[in-house]
Amino acid sequence: MSLLTVTPSGVRVLAPAKVNLYLRVIRRRPDGYHELDTLFERVGLYDKLTFRHAPALTLRCSDPSLPTDERNLALKAALALKRHSGYGAGASIRLVKRIPHAAGLGGGSSDAAAVLLGLDRLWRLGYGVRKLSRIGLEVGSDVPFFVAGVPFAVGRGRGERLRPVPAGGVRLWHVLVKPPFGISTREAYQGLDPVSLTPYRADAKMLLRSAKLGEWERLAGFLRNDLEVSLNKRVTEIAKIKAALVEQGAHASLLSGSGSTVFGVYASARLAARAARRLRRLDRRWKVFVAPTV
Ligand code: C5P
Repeated sequence: MSLLTVTPSGVRVLAPAKVNLYLRVIRRRPDGYHELDTLFERVGLYDKLTFRHAPALTLRCSDPSLPTDERNLALKAALALKRHSGYGAGASIRLVKRIPHAAGLGGGSSDAAAVLLGLDRLWRLGYGVRKLSRIGLEVGSDVPFFVAGVPFAVGRGRGERLRPVPAGGVRLWHVLVKPPFGISTREAYQGLDPVSLTPYRADAKMLLRSAKLGEWERLAGFLRNDLEVSLNKRVTEIAKIKAALVEQGAHASLLSGSGSTVFGVYASARLAARAARRLRRLDRRWKVFVAPTV
């Protein structure tokens, strides 16, 4: 499925969300980042971006609570690409937000990747994935995953050393539940307590194989998020959402990335939709989405 469309007036790009099926924090690095081993999965909840030729770079956003200057990763990515390419003009960028922010769903990073891909096409730069990923990493650790354009990938380093994992026809269904508070990524990593971490064997291939065979208990055993272990103590609502998802039939539930979204894994669209309806009724402050692997 191509997420980029050339239109008569410019370019349109859909920016998907992600969840992390596992996220291991290996160690803190001297540069302040953490060395990770994570399995990214792209999921079908989208922001929409449109790009038109314009003399200067400008960003408009459907969510008035978000900045439209360089603090917004979409504009930050556009400025980085303009600087790298020396492109002489600009673009007007319109961003329609659906992915909640400070949610662990990679919304800002995905917008940034969509900007790199969209402007690369609009400005006819012809940069490949490699070059765009390198520029993307200046904007955020998760940007290279979204530039890569694959449903599943293992990320090492800051998350930018990527190895795509063949999906083998696996399509999972997710219910995403975002509580009324957000968590900043920096805050989540700062709260990490390595002492509390128990050993865990990450195995992306076996995880996806279990999903393919419908061996759900086995799959649940492979899901793990080291940041959840540290956040759970402080944020009881996350534990509550996890339990509610399992109560509503999820085979497994986990904090996504640095939170605050929790996702449940379901075998079908029907089961996920039913669970989502019930979860919305359970707590009206929760934002609930259904999204498959894309
Ligand atoms: O790269 P990004 O801007 O998304 O990271 C935000 C913050 O999250 C970083 O400043 C850092 O505190 C933390 N982080 C980390 N290790 C990573 C990714 C992010 O410590 N691999």
